Amino acid sequence: MNNPTPNPNFVGDLFWGIFKPQWIRLALTLDIFTPLAASPFNAEQVAQACHCDSFPIQALLDYFCAVHILDKRGDLYALTPTAETFLVRGREAYAGDMILDYTSPALFESILNSIRTGKPRSLNENFVQDAWLESYSAWRIPKSLEMWKAAGITTERPLRILDIACGCAIKSFALAQTSPNVHVTCLDSPDVLEVASHLAGRMAVSAQAAFFPADLFSANLGAEGFDAVLVGQITHYLTAEQNRDLFRRIHSALTEHGTLVIDCPMSKETPTESSAFLTLFLWANGGGTAHSFEMYKSWLEEIGFQTVTQLSERWLSAQK
Ligand SMILES: C[S@@+](CC[C@H](N)C(=O)[O-])C[C@H]1O[C@@H](n2cnc3c(N)ncnc32)[C@H](O)[C@@H]1O
Repeated sequence: MNNPTPNPNFVGDLFWGIFKPQWIRLALTLDIFTPLAASPFNAEQVAQACHCDSFPIQALLDYFCAVHILDKRGDLYALTPTAETFLVRGREAYAGDMILDYTSPALFESILNSIRTGKPRSLNENFVQDAWLESYSAWRIPKSLEMWKAAGITTERPLRILDIACGCAIKSFALAQTSPNVHVTCLDSPDVLEVASHLAGRMAVSAQAAFFPADLFSANLGAEGFDAVLVGQITHYLTAEQNRDLFRRIHSALTEHGTLVIDCPMSKETPTESSAFLTLFLWANGGGTAHSFEMYKSWLEEIGFQTVTQLSERWLSAQK
């Protein structure tokens, strides 16, 4: 039951929520982080490097210190490791373009237009920057081990995994780190596979990884070459027919009793904040949709998978 008293914090929370990403957008547009990569500077020096007035630049720099994006020593401002990695233009894991896309008025204009016309805009995700961000998401490692365990995947014997639309492949590399028996074939576009290759090095699993640059819509996945296939965070971008076609090729690619693991948002009868958000966002951005578990189960059983099980809110497995 909702509180019967009107809540003005609703608007106040919007104020704080809206301005933080916009201040970051503004700082990226002025490129205030890049000069600090050379050495710590005071506000005057940053303002000069960005051709701005020093008073508002100091306020902006102080704001970023307060939200732990910068550090202040005396009157000098310095990058934190987060800013150093993701906010300096030209760095390999620079996420500025992605932040500029998500904070752009043009994004919301185009979503508005999609809602009015019923026509979603074409998918416009920066998958390379997304893969870099994911590659630094250490929490993914224990969470992914939980997923493999829930799917009944064990590593006592050689285990060949095909990770389709792998991104940085952290979910499969997490398992590879636990045993030399695990070998991961990473399928994605060539530019994203560069991120996966970099992460394989950082996670010390390069010898257990192979890279397969391919388009998942047409890739020949071969016959009975894999004990497990992971399809993470991509099936919600695909139509029913595209998913069925992919699952058919995966069925052929799996060995007898092999396991398909799908990690994706699934629709719920009573939407939560995050599931309703995703429903709108996925639809407006490329026409995607969070299919229900029942939908996946019917597609997979029709193709010949034996046991289709929902393992959690986001995971399901299917046995050949
Ligand atoms: C949201 S990311 C998911 C990454 C990872 N599987 C995970 O679960 O976190 C979607 C990935 O699908 C890849 N992708 C999108 N379309 C593709 C296609 N046609 N062929 C191969 N990969 C594709 C993107 O490059 C991106 O790395």
